[in-house]
Amino acid sequence: MQIYKTIAETREALAGEALKNKIGFVPTMGALHKGHLSLVERCHSESDLTVVSIYVNPTQFGPQEDLNHYPRNLEKDIDLLRNYHVDIVFTPDDVQMYPEGYCTWVQVEGLSDILCGASRPGHFRGVATIVLKLMHIVNPKLMFMGMKDYQQIIVLEKMIEDLNLETKIVRCPIVREPDGLAMSSRNSYLTPDERQRATCLIKALKNAQKMVNEGHLDSSILISEAENIIKQSDGRIDYIKIVDGSTLQELPEVRSGSRMMLAVYIGNTRLIDNIELLP
Ligand code: PAJ
Repeated sequence: MQIYKTIAETREALAGEALKNKIGFVPTMGALHKGHLSLVERCHSESDLTVVSIYVNPTQFGPQEDLNHYPRNLEKDIDLLRNYHVDIVFTPDDVQMYPEGYCTWVQVEGLSDILCGASRPGHFRGVATIVLKLMHIVNPKLMFMGMKDYQQIIVLEKMIEDLNLETKIVRCPIVREPDGLAMSSRNSYLTPDERQRATCLIKALKNAQKMVNEGHLDSSILISEAENIIKQSDGRIDYIKIVDGSTLQELPEVRSGSRMMLAVYIGNTRLIDNIELLP
């Protein structure tokens, strides 16, 4: 496993590889958990060369958000990755990615302004920009991403389509704790009491899925039931929406491919999750 801090070293190591080998890429912000590691395993099984990036991208955090507190443990992350089949780890710093005078941005209009984008202005501009830069450095055939960040996948797939990029995103399932909480680097912010209450997200989603299986398709009823479950655990709702799984447009009634998407504050920690309501 090679570890590179600079764009130049990473480019040199990968020069010509894209022609001979299928490069697989897993972009991350570190604080690696089993969700990230499932992407790394999937990448190894479907690619000839596995590249992982670890970079806490400042431009996807809002001014009042948790950039300064975001968990960072590069040594531990690298030790963890040594147990997997990783060929290259790219760990740039801010000077590499955003040198002085940096002023170019990628904006996926519309899709970036709804759901998480409505509460986090500029977030998806930061995500699209850094992922395009990383893709341009790594040149992957496949990029492995978790459906935990479902909107992120949809935004990036649109960027790939609109800019005629040749990378394909492989959508990977959400890895959960035994009690159903989606794994997230931000779960480390939760106090023991909050950690327990955080199970209300998956309870609300599973309940909606069960109601749909029983024939309840009216979005407003499903959403108000989900709201009740979240409120019982003192969660503060940012949004709960039922959307089309491809366009992310809100739907009055559940149909095939619909998803329930939610963002909820437990204490000061904002958690997101989502589920497919009907295959
Ligand atoms: P980060 O939050 O570190 O997530 C990196 C990848 O891991 C994303 O594709 C995310 O969806 C996936 N992931 C996180 N938790 C998961 C879980 N419980 N199950 C399955 N996959 C999970 O997403 C980002 O970083 C950044 O926005 C990034 C794309 C790296 C750009 O900065």
